[in-house]
Amino acid sequence: MIFIRHFSVLIIITCQLSSFSQSFTDDKIDSLISIMTLEEKIGQLTLFTSDWATTGPTIRENYLEDIRSGRAGNIFNAHTAAYNRSLQKVAIEESRLGIPLLFGYDVIHGYKTIFPIPLGEAATWDLELIERAARIAAEEATAGGLHWTFAPMVDIARDPRWGRIAEGAGEDVYLGSLIAAARVRGFQGNDLTKNNTLLACAKHFAAYGAAQAGRDYHTVDISKRTLWETYLPPFKACVDAGAMTFMTSFNELDGIPASAHRYLLEEILRDTWKFEGFVVSDYTSINEMVPHGYAANNKDAGRLAINAGLDMDMQGAVYYDYLEDLLAEGEVSIQTIDLSVKRILQAKNKLGLFDDPYRYSDEQREKEVVLSSANKELAREIARNSMVLLKNQNSVLPLQDSDQIALIGPLADSPIDMLGSWHAAGQANQTTSVLHAFNQAGKKVAYAQGCTIEGTDTSGFSEAIEKGETADKIIMVVGEHFNMSGEAASRSQIRIPDIQQLLIKRLSELNKPIILVLISGRPLCLNWELQIADAIIEAWQPGTMAGPAILDVLSGDHNPSGKLPVTFPRNEGQIPIFYNVKNTGRPMQPDNKYSSKYLDVANDPLFPFGYGLSYTTFSYANMSVDKTEISDQEDLNFSVTLTNSGSVAGHEIVQLYMRDPVASVTRPVKELKRFEKVFLQPSESKEVKFSLSTEELKFYNSDLQWVFEPGEFRFGIGPDSDVELTLNVVLK
Ligand code: BGC
Repeated sequence: MIFIRHFSVLIIITCQLSSFSQSFTDDKIDSLISIMTLEEKIGQLTLFTSDWATTGPTIRENYLEDIRSGRAGNIFNAHTAAYNRSLQKVAIEESRLGIPLLFGYDVIHGYKTIFPIPLGEAATWDLELIERAARIAAEEATAGGLHWTFAPMVDIARDPRWGRIAEGAGEDVYLGSLIAAARVRGFQGNDLTKNNTLLACAKHFAAYGAAQAGRDYHTVDISKRTLWETYLPPFKACVDAGAMTFMTSFNELDGIPASAHRYLLEEILRDTWKFEGFVVSDYTSINEMVPHGYAANNKDAGRLAINAGLDMDMQGAVYYDYLEDLLAEGEVSIQTIDLSVKRILQAKNKLGLFDDPYRYSDEQREKEVVLSSANKELAREIARNSMVLLKNQNSVLPLQDSDQIALIGPLADSPIDMLGSWHAAGQANQTTSVLHAFNQAGKKVAYAQGCTIEGTDTSGFSEAIEKGETADKIIMVVGEHFNMSGEAASRSQIRIPDIQQLLIKRLSELNKPIILVLISGRPLCLNWELQIADAIIEAWQPGTMAGPAILDVLSGDHNPSGKLPVTFPRNEGQIPIFYNVKNTGRPMQPDNKYSSKYLDVANDPLFPFGYGLSYTTFSYANMSVDKTEISDQEDLNFSVTLTNSGSVAGHEIVQLYMRDPVASVTRPVKELKRFEKVFLQPSESKEVKFSLSTEELKFYNSDLQWVFEPGEFRFGIGPDSDVELTLNVVLK
């Protein structure tokens, strides 16, 4: 009897679902919701992880049962076409309504072909390359059965102790917002129903990067002004670029955990920005409202979260365990639940999953697309563009063919450490190390590891010194382990670990040119290294094609053009340090004790935001602006003549900065307003032009209204944020 009743329900619903396909409208989503049980509705609000292990895919037996019973509508960390098809089959064929599962994964900077970490990608300042990398990541991930990436991470980060600085675009609001939008466009493409586009997820909403003292998950306490000026703009850029999903952050903001923050989720995101997608919690962030001291227990946390507009619960099982009771007790309304269900079903529908739930599980496409040579070539291209030349004394780089090279260091042949902390399905055995790249290219090097990344064992030093003795130049690949940045990987000292510093010191005693290639997920304090080394390249964590890309730069096949998307401090005591600070009432004066400075370190950083050298040199001349006075609605047109004054072709990233020296609220000493990446042959010149509308002169006044105010503005164009602002314009 039970079986017959169940079967007849199934027939009716299957007919309904198949008639929904092709043109599944809002009305049809409403009818689907009308035939869902409460359990099935809560299932759509639930996201559980697969237990993917290196040995192969697995999922907890009870989660499989939850898929069957419609109690788990979304799965993350499950991937590959075949595996996800097998899970989808359970949802489609064995659950009562056959609603397709949504598969999510942290495809942060590549799926199997791994691109540089996002901070490295940001150092390219190349929006087109960044968008293409996200596009390829989406093509591979969708071929691997995925519908949704938990990216882009758009948290502005101004504290390099915070390990998650690796995952975003650095410290600047303007650059960060452009990159955020480029990544959304890359992931989502222009048509979500295509089988190679996936849902983007702007995270972590909001202000996660402002964790006190750079300690991950720590309290955030910032002003509303800082929230609006600094932390929100990249999220707004994601909404404008069409991002379909948002993820909340772990932190509290003004005493309220982000996962129950109505002001963030309802007032800003939905009411002001008109976001129409769905919001997911971060991993168990609903449950964490209990230790935060904001909810008495998990049930209470669930009530607070859903009523604040949080649609989907990641891994916490709070909605799963308590929503039914909360509804029965009148603490949550069915309208609230239905609205969240609807947002999630709409996203599934936008992906075309009701038409064909298996469209993303195409093994043939997976074979062709994943790790294709074209994808790896793009990874190499973006990696070499991400590298920042920090020092190059006496043009020790590029290497000459005749140079005898010693290649030393714990990161010279450590493929896994090239991939960064979020390397999705990227594998060490698909990754080319620097040593391997030299060998592949038939270039002879004397290699020694020297030491491990951390530790105290110096027994490998003698071999490294021996190899160094016979060389003309010593390349040392040094820095951080892949797990020394990323989530839960904050460091109070952001230096190259002691053992590696000791190795550098020993080798420097040979009095041979020392070239440091830095592998790191964050800015490092390099005061000492800057004295010792002849050349330094910040290579970040460059991804699958790390070795070839680094070799391209070392050999001069690629002239480096990366610029820092984040300030490099002299020491940790300067942190937080970033270029667009306020002037203070007592700006630094070297001879005035009572001015804003330290007794033991300069105010300026080791390397400023926007900094990066090239194997050529560039000169700037004839900087001008077409007006000295403007009124509202007028544009300002800037121009500068850039000349490649060196002997090789190269790219320069030309940057325009602005200051509003007097306003009704104080403004930063500099704000990046425009940039352009320009390619010039030796001796070639180009007039680089920028135009700014008065919109760009606006700021939030004391009532947080977006306004401009008459008065003077100063501008300057140059190679980095150290530029002087010598052009004056008056807004009438
Ligand atoms: C991280 C998120 C990530 C999620 C799923 C969390 O711990 O904070 O960034 O998307 O895990 O893996």
